[in-house]
Amino acid sequence: MKVVRFARYGGPEVLELVDGDAPHARAGQIRIAVRAAGVNGLEWKIRQGLLRDVRPLRLPAGIGGDAAGIVDEVGDGVTDVRVGDTVFGSGQETYAEHAVLTSWAQKPPEVSFEEAAGFATPFETALRVLDDSGVRGGHTVLVNGASGGVGSAAVQFAVDRGATVIGIAGPSNQDYIASLGAVATTFGPYLVDRVRALAPNGIDAALDIAGSDIIAELIELTGDPARVVSIADFSAPELGARVSTGFGRDKTHALREGARLAAAGRLTLPVAQTFPLAQAGAAQAASATGHVRGRIIVTVP
Ligand SMILES: NC(=O)c1ccc[n+]([C@@H]2O[C@H](COP(=O)([O-])OP(=O)(O)OC[C@H]3O[C@@H](n4cnc5c(N)ncnc54)[C@H](OP(=O)(O)O)[C@@H]3O)[C@@H](O)[C@H]2O)c1
Repeated sequence: MKVVRFARYGGPEVLELVDGDAPHARAGQIRIAVRAAGVNGLEWKIRQGLLRDVRPLRLPAGIGGDAAGIVDEVGDGVTDVRVGDTVFGSGQETYAEHAVLTSWAQKPPEVSFEEAAGFATPFETALRVLDDSGVRGGHTVLVNGASGGVGSAAVQFAVDRGATVIGIAGPSNQDYIASLGAVATTFGPYLVDRVRALAPNGIDAALDIAGSDIIAELIELTGDPARVVSIADFSAPELGARVSTGFGRDKTHALREGARLAAAGRLTLPVAQTFPLAQAGAAQAASATGHVRGRIIVTVP
């Protein structure tokens, strides 16, 4: 099969489309014929070698965590899907013609493979930070980085719970954030004043998705570091705020919950741009700009 691999850490050019053996599903796993793979910010950081101390790789290595496709192998003990089902989920080395998934959900028929390919990480991350922050109906939630993959999902999950959401993103995404059901505002100077004007009764929980050096302002707005969580600023604990990571967490519940809302038309994740598998490096470069509305997707012919 065709698979994207890299033999050394570096820029987008180190990603190569090569021939490799298809992986097999072990117990509790499934294999899919990949139709599309979602591109996460974490992946260009892995390729660049920025995580080599915490996540050492044996090179050459494949890359990619999210995908959608058609089940073509089912591991021992898996009873909720069959060969031929269409699914999306999360696994390993998903920029490939076949990939093993460790968490999955049925793809709603209303959603394309391209859109569903981007779901897994945004759904799991967004639900995790909302649950860990105790967000519920009646709360006012501030989401920094509301227009990207995780941010778009967080806004819509929170709105669905009945929370009032204020979303922070760039000027070109204000209308987009409003279309997701949030009150939109821009990042930059006087942010605290702008948010206070939009939420005179205060902020119950602040989610830093963008990791844009904003923790002090979020603490000022919530009045309590315990109400602030970041997924991308690892210096947040220095100010008393939390960092949330998904290592070792089971994603199945989040994927099913997201699929349920997507099927009902209450949760969408726009496909910002698609790239063929052979241009995975360009796809990661587009993701690395940090200004993606929704998700960048790699498609498999
Ligand atoms: N800890 C975890 O479990 C976990 C899980 C998933 C992802 N992550 C990390 O979380 C981060 C976000 O992931 P993602 O996939 O959602 O990223 P993404 O899709 O690239 O989106 C980033 C968003 O941030 C916005 N943004 C850029 N600069 C900003 C600023 N200064 N202030 C506020 N917003 C700004 C952009 O909006 P505009 O285009 O409107 O500027 C963009 O929509 C990445 O660093 C990723 O590695 C962590």
